[in-house]
Amino acid sequence: MTYKIIIKPSNVEFTCDSGQTILSAAIEQGIMLPFRCKVGACMTCICKMIEGDVEYQLEPMLTNKERQQGWIFPCQAYAKSHLILTFEE
Ligand code: FES
Repeated sequence: MTYKIIIKPSNVEFTCDSGQTILSAAIEQGIMLPFRCKVGACMTCICKMIEGDVEYQLEPMLTNKERQQGWIFPCQAYAKSHLILTFEE
């Protein structure tokens, strides 16, 4: 399954296959997203999911409140639907 990822407010778009993380899909397609560690430790990649659903193989260090607010780790998250994300607060 391939999902469409849209970054707001720039409306940059890329696709993400179900077997790859959002960050690795972006890097593969030349989309510059912030990252450092790629293992869910540095929080550089953290962004907010405005719409959609993700899943993790290893649950990231997020509180329930942060999850409800939409925070995700693109270096660890796998898309489960089309996504709209933002790196702005
Ligand atoms: S790149 Fe470090 S937490 Fe995602």
